Amino acid sequence: MRRIDLIEPFRVMQLLEHAKELEAEGRKIIHMEIGEPDFATPASVIEAAKAALDSGDNFYTPSTGNPELQQALSTWYKGEYNVDVKPERILITPGTSGAFSLIYAALLDAGESILLPDPGYPCQRNFIRLAGGEPITIPVGPETRYHLSRELVEANWHEHTRAAVVINPSNPTGTLIDPYELAAIATACQTRGGYLISDEIYHGLTYDAKAHCALEFNENAIVVNGFSKRWAMTGWRIGWIVVPEALIDACRRVMQNIFIAAPTLSQYAAIAALKAHVNCEQMRKAYDERRSYLLTELPKLGFDIVVQPQGAFYIYANIENITDDSKTFCWDMLEKAGVAITPGEDFGSFRSAQHVRFSYATSLENIREGLKRLKEALEYTRK
Ligand SMILES: Cc1ncc(COP(=O)(O)O)c(C=O)c1O
Repeated sequence: MRRIDLIEPFRVMQLLEHAKELEAEGRKIIHMEIGEPDFATPASVIEAAKAALDSGDNFYTPSTGNPELQQALSTWYKGEYNVDVKPERILITPGTSGAFSLIYAALLDAGESILLPDPGYPCQRNFIRLAGGEPITIPVGPETRYHLSRELVEANWHEHTRAAVVINPSNPTGTLIDPYELAAIATACQTRGGYLISDEIYHGLTYDAKAHCALEFNENAIVVNGFSKRWAMTGWRIGWIVVPEALIDACRRVMQNIFIAAPTLSQYAAIAALKAHVNCEQMRKAYDERRSYLLTELPKLGFDIVVQPQGAFYIYANIENITDDSKTFCWDMLEKAGVAITPGEDFGSFRSAQHVRFSYATSLENIREGLKRLKEALEYTRK
């Protein structure tokens, strides 16, 4: 099989396309499938980008990023987590997705593997395959809050394993990893000559607890993060990666060749974003209100929430009370109720047919309407 044949499509996009077709026919669809903030980018960020555009500085930055942004992020790490990160360890990338391209290209040789949680963010597997590596997906469930544990990492680590990935808070489950477990995984990876890769893109979007940065526990951890979610900047394509000193040079070389540099205007915008505290807090509060509503209402409809999500904007619900075929169920709900949710199959294969992901990156009004419609449709669907 050729490498490209291993690359799976992002299945939720097919559902989204069908939702758009239904909208074109005049139906109002409630979108609870999309993992994209429904808020505008903070006005101060847009102003900063406009000023940068007017200044005429539309040229390449150094491939590792605008030094002012690297410094601002270094200061941000101190304020946010009380960790010292030298600016040169922070590489600015085109989105968090760009950070993944860098790190897997830098880390992997053919046949080497990376440990991932199943369920988990689906693109990870494909980044690894594109770099010639092998994703090893490990089933995770409520016992570990849908995260890898030290035990799981140790049991699945092989001679050719290079790293283990934690998505904290998780997409699709919204759950936070226990900080002790995060620290233990980092140590387990380091002892075996590998790395913990911590995807922290949903940091700042947590509700009853703060997410811990892997760098609080292990300075060799690799951290990826970006401006898409907390700062509502998906289309600006801007993120970053913190790497240990030993990997800076490899990542820089990959960056130079694949991207040259992250978008210059977006880097100026990112500097302003790091100061947009009030806006971020307003968004966070709105998500929290929606989350509380869903946590109360979904179980009444038969969606079982086994572990309370504390972050991101997702709820991963068990639908065994309703059906054992989440894919058909999601397509059915789209057709019959005009409500789009994501089938568990998008995030892996472990008990995925018994789960769906709700995204609450849409207004409370839409969410209320969505649940009303689901309730009506479910009266006919129950097994
Ligand atoms: C867990 C996770 N990591 C990374 C990304 C990629 O984000 P971006 O490339 O916009 O920074 C996403 C996007 O949904 C995500 O959910």
